[in-house]
Amino acid sequence: MTTIPAPTMALDIIQSLEQNHQPPLYAKRDIALVRGEGSYLFDTDGKRYLDAMSNYGVAVLGHADPEYAAALADQLATLTTCHQSFYNDMRAAALAAVNEIAPAGLTRSFFSNSGAEAIEAALKFAMAATGKHKIVAAKKGYHGRTLGALSATADPKYRAPFEPLPLPATHTGFNDLEALRAAVDSETAAIILEPVQGEGGIFPADLSYLQGAREIADATGALLIADEIQSGFRTGVPFHITRAGISPDIAVTAKALGNGFPIGLTITTEAISEKIPAGAHGTTFGANPLACRAAITTLHLMKSRGLYENAVCIGDRLMEGIRAIGSPKIRDVRGLGLMIGVEMKERVTPTLRGLQDRGVLALPATPVVFRILPPMIWGDEQVDEFLAALSDVLA
Ligand SMILES: Cc1ncc(COP(=O)(O)O)c(C=O)c1O
Repeated sequence: MTTIPAPTMALDIIQSLEQNHQPPLYAKRDIALVRGEGSYLFDTDGKRYLDAMSNYGVAVLGHADPEYAAALADQLATLTTCHQSFYNDMRAAALAAVNEIAPAGLTRSFFSNSGAEAIEAALKFAMAATGKHKIVAAKKGYHGRTLGALSATADPKYRAPFEPLPLPATHTGFNDLEALRAAVDSETAAIILEPVQGEGGIFPADLSYLQGAREIADATGALLIADEIQSGFRTGVPFHITRAGISPDIAVTAKALGNGFPIGLTITTEAISEKIPAGAHGTTFGANPLACRAAITTLHLMKSRGLYENAVCIGDRLMEGIRAIGSPKIRDVRGLGLMIGVEMKERVTPTLRGLQDRGVLALPATPVVFRILPPMIWGDEQVDEFLAALSDVLA
């Protein structure tokens, strides 16, 4: 058997191909990442970077994990695609694995291929179950770029070019229960919230806010959708909303679930799923055996390697360490587990640039908040490396 070699390209060739053949949607950093190993990434020159972003929260097991790679290679050599009109062993096993981590009462899972798609499914399920289509979401909330998800997303920067959006949405202040109560009425299909806001600047919801949202939903007949696409797993539990002692009607996650293999998950109750007509939603790639194997493997390894506990312990060390730097440029350090935001008194771009020059990759949330979303395998060595680079940059 011959192996088709992976193309190797110099940085300038990569840059010109991407610049000439992609729409200019992303502000690009000036390096090309071509390889990963554990908590580290490597560019075309072989320069090593500490990964403090795991592709916006995806690579929870780190890069090129041997057990994960072996499981996916095995599945590639067995079966990669299988329509949902047939039963499949990997799909069944993924459903069983998800059932073990789902918030209480959520037993019906729909697998898709991305976060935004998982939100689309949640919104359609809510519409089908309630017969309504108005949604209430949070200011600074982010739910994705497809048109339904964009209706729920707050930032005018993302919305404005595409208005009018399909679903009428009201956005109320995050953690403001009275504003939420005032906005939700008998015409509301769903309240959709991130239990920890990510893109908006890393704001954990007050547990009383989540409990209040549950009560408002119950009182009005609206469904509560928890978007844990970013906050899933890395705060130290599969779904942060469960810390409030409640379950949403629909929980959504994606990013970490496949550790890099694309998969989205929308889970709901038996009662809601009964109201979704057969054929009302679907996807060709969703729930394919390869994606399901990625999710089964990631869920198994996160648990067997103690990564939930590690995320809490390393996250606390990281936050304490950043506060201990005592930089006057830092206004606030907040987060949960390995979902951390650092709010600065100035724009974050020079700090992120300085970190990159020192071999550390972190990411922005807002112009003045940068995020740390590392692989959940970080240990003390990576924390020390990060803190040394950050204190150097801030000095
Ligand atoms: C909370 C939240 N919801 C939805 C999305 C959209 O996910 P995707 O980019 O996979 O479509 C994101 C992505 O950053 C997110 O953070």
